[in-house]
Amino acid sequence: MKRSILLSALFLLLAAAPLTTAQPRRPSADLPKWEGVADTPQMGWSSWNCFMTDINETQIKAIADAMVELGLVDAGYIYLNLDDGWHGERDERGFIREDRTKFPSGIKALADYLHARGLKLGIYSDAGNFTCACYSGSLGHEYQDAYTYAQWGVDYLKYDWCFTNNVNPQGAYTLMRNALRKAGRPIFFSICEWGSNKPWEWAQDVGHSWRTTGDIGPAFAPVPVSYDENGKRRWKPMSVLEIIDRNEPLRAYAGPGHWNDPDMLEVGNSSTVDGIFYDMTESEDRAHFTMWCMMAAPLILGNDLRSISEETLAIIKNKEMIAVDQDPLGIQGLRLKKKGDLQYWFKPLVNGDWAFCVMNTGEEAATVTLDWSALEVDDKLSGRKTRFDTVNYEVCDLWNPAAKPFRTLAKGTGKQRGRLVTAKRDVTIPSHDVIAYRLSPVAAR
Ligand code: GLA
Repeated sequence: MKRSILLSALFLLLAAAPLTTAQPRRPSADLPKWEGVADTPQMGWSSWNCFMTDINETQIKAIADAMVELGLVDAGYIYLNLDDGWHGERDERGFIREDRTKFPSGIKALADYLHARGLKLGIYSDAGNFTCACYSGSLGHEYQDAYTYAQWGVDYLKYDWCFTNNVNPQGAYTLMRNALRKAGRPIFFSICEWGSNKPWEWAQDVGHSWRTTGDIGPAFAPVPVSYDENGKRRWKPMSVLEIIDRNEPLRAYAGPGHWNDPDMLEVGNSSTVDGIFYDMTESEDRAHFTMWCMMAAPLILGNDLRSISEETLAIIKNKEMIAVDQDPLGIQGLRLKKKGDLQYWFKPLVNGDWAFCVMNTGEEAATVTLDWSALEVDDKLSGRKTRFDTVNYEVCDLWNPAAKPFRTLAKGTGKQRGRLVTAKRDVTIPSHDVIAYRLSPVAAR
């Protein structure tokens, strides 16, 4: 009797005891991921590609101001994501704190600043003991961290995969999904394990997007392997063309709520890694941006918006191209064929429309004869067919909206002075560039 009273007292004491570590020993049951935050691929800006860990409050606020002033927020770029390097130490109870030297007013104040300007705040952590840049990871602190982010007013979490020895990927990402849901604030969950564990096969109900490749760099074509003075192979970024090849076969896995993420944009960016300088031309930037839109990829800018060129701004603000990326059907585009240096791509859009693009990966300009009858698409995934033989499409040039639209001309419909005219036309595509059109069905005449 005495013993059971003692035990009950002990139980009551434990139940009432303040949470010392705040992290429950036994995580709660599975909870669904947040819905409604990823109906179309996420758009925003992230600090990693241009600043790496060299970030601070003044600079990030200036980026936020630029996003508003340049019209990028109106164009849909609403997330401002702090990548690696915002972290300070954990406090004595294990709660993560921001680096107060870099962010003297704190992350909550930054979230308020962004929210007042129509922006949302993204943050970064890692499923292992440390982040990739060796700051504190979330392993063993998942519920605490999710709670802290929610308290700060964070809207987006990119969750990386460094220092995760022996951690089960599906388990780790599911644990953080549960924690984010439990924390009570809708937070976009961006899975970043570089495609190492085929997240497209298991993460549809876990996150809102998953990286499909290693890290991108501002390089259009594959970077040659190189070695340092000790004969050690240097790390090299993945190029735009390599990433496209990896991401393209995964189109069946993408859709509203869960997107393939071929990494952030390098449009308007350059960088020096291990003494090697990487940069892309305006043509390459345009091709890169176009392909990301064709693949319904997240559009996360990675350039310094405080000093952006007119050319770069024109690329990332192209409304028609963004509409291709953000199309409500959410179908990732397909590569119909590769012929020499030319790649032909289609993406089914709403109202029977299609986006169409030809990319020239060669070193010389190429003149292409567009013969629609040789470009018929029968897309098993979407069940859509182009039917150029019976449907007339009006064609608008997405990179040259001032150009007069033309028609694809179904059989027997293109007449001039009573005579049939051919639908074929020649277009020239500069080296490492694209042509991109929107095709909309019109009644045949
Ligand atoms: C990994 C990610 C990058 C970036 C860095 C930060 O490499 O893939 O996108 O977040 O970590 O350290």
